[in-house]
Amino acid sequence: MNIVIMGPPGAGKGTQASVIAGKIDAKHLSSGDLLREAVASGSDLGKSVKKVMDSGALVSDDLMIDLIMDVVMKLVADSKGFLLDGFPRTLVQAEALNEKFADAGVQIDKVINLDVKSETIVQRLSGRRVCTKCKSVYHVDSLPPKVKGICDNDGEELIIRSDDQEAVIRQRLKIYDDSTFPILDFYSKSQEVFQVSGELQMDEVTGKILEALS
Ligand code: AP5
Ligand code: MG
Repeated sequence: MNIVIMGPPGAGKGTQASVIAGKIDAKHLSSGDLLREAVASGSDLGKSVKKVMDSGALVSDDLMIDLIMDVVMKLVADSKGFLLDGFPRTLVQAEALNEKFADAGVQIDKVINLDVKSETIVQRLSGRRVCTKCKSVYHVDSLPPKVKGICDNDGEELIIRSDDQEAVIRQRLKIYDDSTFPILDFYSKSQEVFQVSGELQMDEVTGKILEALS
């Protein structure tokens, strides 16, 4: 199954996509994780996107489309389902994805939107901790690791993402409203967009998404 999971920064896209991917045997593909890997590797791509990401702005459409479509089309060629998290994020990206899929004779089976209020988001992202190695996501209150500051899976030290500061979070929210929210309208013209409240407990959100997928 090919799924796009949408929602504002901190809505729980990554948290949910990683759980759902395990349950339906699909690949979780996070555009943000791909970019952060590039930054951590010190590659030219990483160097060129670091400043943009730290400011909360969007990386250019051309670069994003090249980066993601390459991975997506390999999964399509292997007949492997995927959950797209963080892409598409602009109308240009959504149209590029549709065009490539039309050429390849594949489709987006489900679009899920996680709806969360801005104030919840600021609280969530201020307490988020991530493992740079295995990409696990924690929260100091709602999902703390067993040992403070250490990843349960691999014992790595957890970090605070450089874009998880209040001023940058508010900037990311503004960009979401201006550039990403309109994609929901774009998709709802051609297919149902499943609305799920991201304000619920994590396992309740998972249950609602699985219901939408069944
Ligand atoms: P990206 O990494 O995609 O960030 P984002 O969209 O801002 O989303 P987040 O990863 O911050 O949030 P999430 O929804 O995954 O929430 P999470 O599950 O972690 O992008 C980062 C940057 O890369 C962008 O700003 C841009 O610069 C660039 N970029 C990426 N894609 C791009 C594209 N296509 N085009 C251009 N530029 C692009 O959860 C958040 C916290 O809440 C966690 O602590 C979690 O434990 C907690 N939590 C989750 N669910 C619940 C719940 N139900 N109850 C309580 N706590 C919860
Ligand atoms: Mg994420």
